[in-house]
Amino acid sequence: MISIVGAGKVGSAAAFNILRFRISDIVLIDVAGELAEGEALDMMQAAPAIEFDGKVRGTNDFSEMEGSEVTVIVAGAGRKLGMTRPDLARTNRKIVESIVKQVVKYAPECKLMIVTNPVDAMTYVAYKESGFERNRVFGMGNILDTIRFRSYIAAELNVSREDVRALVMGEHGDSMVPLVDYATVSGIPIKDLLEAEQIEKIVNLTKTSGSEVIKLKGATTYAPAVEIAVAVDAVLRGRNRVMSVSTFLQGEYGLSDISIGVPVVLGKNGVERILELELSPEAQRHFVESASIIKAMIDTYGYT
Ligand code: NAI
Repeated sequence: MISIVGAGKVGSAAAFNILRFRISDIVLIDVAGELAEGEALDMMQAAPAIEFDGKVRGTNDFSEMEGSEVTVIVAGAGRKLGMTRPDLARTNRKIVESIVKQVVKYAPECKLMIVTNPVDAMTYVAYKESGFERNRVFGMGNILDTIRFRSYIAAELNVSREDVRALVMGEHGDSMVPLVDYATVSGIPIKDLLEAEQIEKIVNLTKTSGSEVIKLKGATTYAPAVEIAVAVDAVLRGRNRVMSVSTFLQGEYGLSDISIGVPVVLGKNGVERILELELSPEAQRHFVESASIIKAMIDTYGYT
């Protein structure tokens, strides 16, 4: 069983994906009146068509998360155009801290996946506040950046998205680092298939694609929701997927006391291990810049 805290647009869409992919029973929790209950009821009415006997239960009672293997925190405000990430961090930090207290009380053994933005800073908050081992607290952001990167590579080459493999690391935000050297189409490096200008265009599209959706419809929903389901599946089924998640570093990549997206093996225990890749000088420079942006945000928190 898993819990999702936040039954707004992304949380409820994630719950529906988890139901549709037949991954797990879900407890959906929100503080807003009967929202979670209503969302769960709506989903359960679709369940016979899915041919899955799993259950989604909606509630505003945090004690119902008891026994969760994974808790996903996707509660709080989203970034509006023109809003700075530190502004958003101030609002959402209080929400994340209050939810983590409930998680520690009712589901102290769970893996904790943070989705609330700015996700790297919120993952750091959740790690510090929970006192959990670092492998059990991770943030979902780069997984979404990576599927966007893969989509644009596939579109540029007119090949199946399935055959494109890639990684994005760093901040889930403007300073993210799409790893061009590690992107392949069925093992063929994209540098052998695309011109430098085409790669630059793809990298820029990847970085701006989230903001583009926010500009058009106010928020992103479907892509993050499906990637939450993918990450939950990796943990619950112990699949040891290789993907980037925001992780608390203790010396890896030369960084400490920061949560930032790095490639990991994601499995039963959450972050099973961190993969330290050799980066090109350009990627390394961008990654250091990305880390300094996150660091500036979390240094204002005063955690020790
Ligand atoms: P939304 O506004 O639709 O839903 C947020 C929900 O959180 C609301 O239903 C609200 O009642 C609930 N909530 C607020 N405080 C709460 C508390 N203390 N306990 C339980 N529930 C609480 O927002 P949406 O679009 O679902 O986005 C949620 C968050 O996810 C935002 O911070 C957004 O920026 C982030 N996000 C992160 C992505 C990522 O890749 N990391 C991608 C997309 C969104």
